[in-house]
Amino acid sequence: MVGTVANPVRIAVLKERAEGEARVAATPETVKKFIALGATVAGERGAGAGASIPDAEFGAAGAELGDAASTTKDADIVLGVQGPEAASLNGATSGAWVVAGLDPFGRRDRIDAYAGAGIEALAMEFMPRITRAQSMDILSSQSNLAGYKAVIDGAAAYRRAFPMMMTAAGTVSPAKVFVMGVGVAGLQAIATAKRLGAQVSATDVRSATKEQIQSLGAKPIFVENVAGIEGEGAGGYATEMSDEYRQAQAELVSSHIAKQDIVITTALIPGRAAPRLISDAQLATMRAGSVVIDLAAEAGGNVEGCIAGEAVQHHGVTVIGASNLARSIPADSSALFARNLYNFLSAFWDKDASAPVLPDDDEIVQAIRLTSGGKVVSERLTAS
Ligand code: NAI
Repeated sequence: MVGTVANPVRIAVLKERAEGEARVAATPETVKKFIALGATVAGERGAGAGASIPDAEFGAAGAELGDAASTTKDADIVLGVQGPEAASLNGATSGAWVVAGLDPFGRRDRIDAYAGAGIEALAMEFMPRITRAQSMDILSSQSNLAGYKAVIDGAAAYRRAFPMMMTAAGTVSPAKVFVMGVGVAGLQAIATAKRLGAQVSATDVRSATKEQIQSLGAKPIFVENVAGIEGEGAGGYATEMSDEYRQAQAELVSSHIAKQDIVITTALIPGRAAPRLISDAQLATMRAGSVVIDLAAEAGGNVEGCIAGEAVQHHGVTVIGASNLARSIPADSSALFARNLYNFLSAFWDKDASAPVLPDDDEIVQAIRLTSGGKVVSERLTAS
């Protein structure tokens, strides 16, 4: 437990240090809400600059502004988007919490450093997919914006128009957009492409998505009559598919993809490399000037030859390796991320203690708690 009634919880918000990270883990709205719960909030000067939030707005919301050292001094809870290095938290209280997206597998060294420093690390990306946790889910809030931005970036890279236009000089054909992987990002990509006037089709391994695709006015492209067709596993995530399924999917995609102008891939399988959905040979069948945006680029990529963070040309097709697109709309992505953190902490707020209390037997706590009492306690980490 952190903080007491006599000594209210002190929440710190630092400027993100990771390269290219423009988001911030709190907004004036969430600062006010934390203060209303009885906390004090300290913010590093300039923390909101990348997300277009001036210091004055944090100050007006009640945050105490200072440098990094004074912000973390005596902090009970440090909020982050990507999370601070353990060494930067020397002044925090013993047993302080870090609540952020912590990339637990990619940055295992940092999780060990948190344990060594006696910090309790809570990884928001390990939030379970249960109804109660929906409003706390940073993967959903950021994927939704990434799906939107993928279409906007695709439209900008495409040298033709999206909607059909009938003009005195003739007709402009609508763009054909194909979305592969219809989770949170894919659904928003479909909706955004429809709004821009494209002809949209989509596919997934989870058959439950067929209706969702139709309800957005897009055309489902699905493998039928193949063994192992149901690709939904625990927690609503996709499972790895049979060889027979993959062969049938590749054939279906090949014939469809050759007629598409924009393809957006979002397919992920938790804990594994992203499935390969488009080969170089398939790219070669697309019309010159087409655009492929791979939202799974950082997980190994759905598209052969894609490079995370870069746009490359293959056979006249622009292949964009999307890298954390949500951070390219930092004002909105910060607002949603900050609310996810607030929704989590406020759900566990104990009025009598004037502090959040995390019960050991709670499903959410068990899923996201990485370190406690100087040890790594997350089963997902100790088992790997
Ligand atoms: P994700 O980011 O893990 O994967 C993206 C999509 O790729 C998924 O729809 C997946 O089925 C699909 N995919 C995987 N392999 C594929 C392949 N070989 N070919 C085509 N598609 C493939 O998924 P995301 O966005 O996290 O959502 C998955 C489901 O979980 C959704 O139904 C979503 O509504 C649900 N969800 C529920 C939450 C809650 O209840 N708190 C929170 C987040 C998601």
